[in-house]
Amino acid sequence: PRSVTREADGAVAVAGLSVRDIAAEFGTPVYVLDEADLRSRCRDFRAAFPTEDIFYAGKAFLCRAVVRMIAEEGLHLDVCTGGELATALSAGMPPERIGFHGNNKSVAELSRALDAGVGRIIVDSFTEIDRLTALARERGVRPRVLVRVTVGVEAHTHEFIATAHEDQKFGFSLAGGAAANAAFKILDEGVLELRGLHSHIGSQIFDASGFEVSARRVLALQAQIRDARGVELPELDLGGGFGIAYTSQDDPATPQDLAKRLRKIVDSECAAENLAVPHLSIEPGRAIVGPAVFTLYEVGTVKELDGIRTFVSVDGGMSDNIRTALYDASYSATLASRASTAQPLLARVVGKHCESGDIVVKDEFLPADVQAGDLVAVPGTGAYCRSMASNYNHVPRPPVVAVRDGQARLIVRRETEEDLLALDVG
Ligand code: LLP
Repeated sequence: PRSVTREADGAVAVAGLSVRDIAAEFGTPVYVLDEADLRSRCRDFRAAFPTEDIFYAGKAFLCRAVVRMIAEEGLHLDVCTGGELATALSAGMPPERIGFHGNNKSVAELSRALDAGVGRIIVDSFTEIDRLTALARERGVRPRVLVRVTVGVEAHTHEFIATAHEDQKFGFSLAGGAAANAAFKILDEGVLELRGLHSHIGSQIFDASGFEVSARRVLALQAQIRDARGVELPELDLGGGFGIAYTSQDDPATPQDLAKRLRKIVDSECAAENLAVPHLSIEPGRAIVGPAVFTLYEVGTVKELDGIRTFVSVDGGMSDNIRTALYDASYSATLASRASTAQPLLARVVGKHCESGDIVVKDEFLPADVQAGDLVAVPGTGAYCRSMASNYNHVPRPPVVAVRDGQARLIVRRETEEDLLALDVG
């Protein structure tokens, strides 16, 4: 986070509050959210995209307090399940500022979205178009929809989080003609209001040229729809996926750079196709919340394997951050509870789970005197860590604490063993 400093006793502080105080009050592991940081990232996006709509992708991390923060900062919200929708609505997110995604939305979920009056639904299959059309007819409503287009871009990111190459489950294929047919079907049936096209090429992307190629391709489809049906779609969503720095090697684009590049390509393509420039929207998740959070762990054991590495075991692990094991993601770690002048030691920060893949940080230099009782901070854990957390090995999930102006506020409480046992009704 942006407001990290060191106290006189060497402990890391966030927004003026020492991690030692946070650990003493809330225990460890704990996700610590720097509220000013999150808000400033919302503002950076707003400043870079002042006339566009920014849909915060709630899958990255969602709870009521964060819904309120992003709403106050003028963002919209992308949800992709009934559960995310329920959280958004219960936090008071205006339904017209919610977009609903998903490749397999159920009848119940779509009904709920219609009854709540969500602003737009991003349709993902012919089955869904039929399902939504029937539900809209029953209710006599005309929901606004976007068609999710699979643009065939190879995004340079991990295979599991790339979403626009042809052979995957999301969206309507551009190359195969399904995307055009989906748009024609919606326009011809006239029950749903087709507002525009949507493309999302993947996540943790650094090379902005993927967004440019996808913008060019969806706008070509837009021109094709205009030529075939005489309709110019008023909106275009270019999705999320903007990369963040997990380690010092990562060099992400700023929102300003992204905005400039996206606008330029959209303007030139529209000019070339003789289209009016559509109202743009984007869906950043990770870039808003990722850097605003760090996980604070306590070291339990330190095990030195001669000549290989030192394993520093912390009191969480793959249940609170699956990304290292699942995507081979890179994180860094810092000794946070004190200063140390000891030599750097090549360490692997591991968790307490019963498998050797339970790695939080693959390689990190920690002071050689790191020991049980120390606090270690792992930055950049705001996105897809709490939201993908599990109860593996019956470990209760950590709380989320928001810090602002030296004050800590619990926004998601720690799970307890009673919470886990409450579900076990056998
Ligand atoms: N829009 C759509 C339609 C998406 O599917 C996603 C992410 C986003 C926006 C937000 O992407 P972001 O700006 O956060 O990159 N669990 C994986 C990431 C999965 C992303 C899924 N979709 C991870 O931990 O890296």
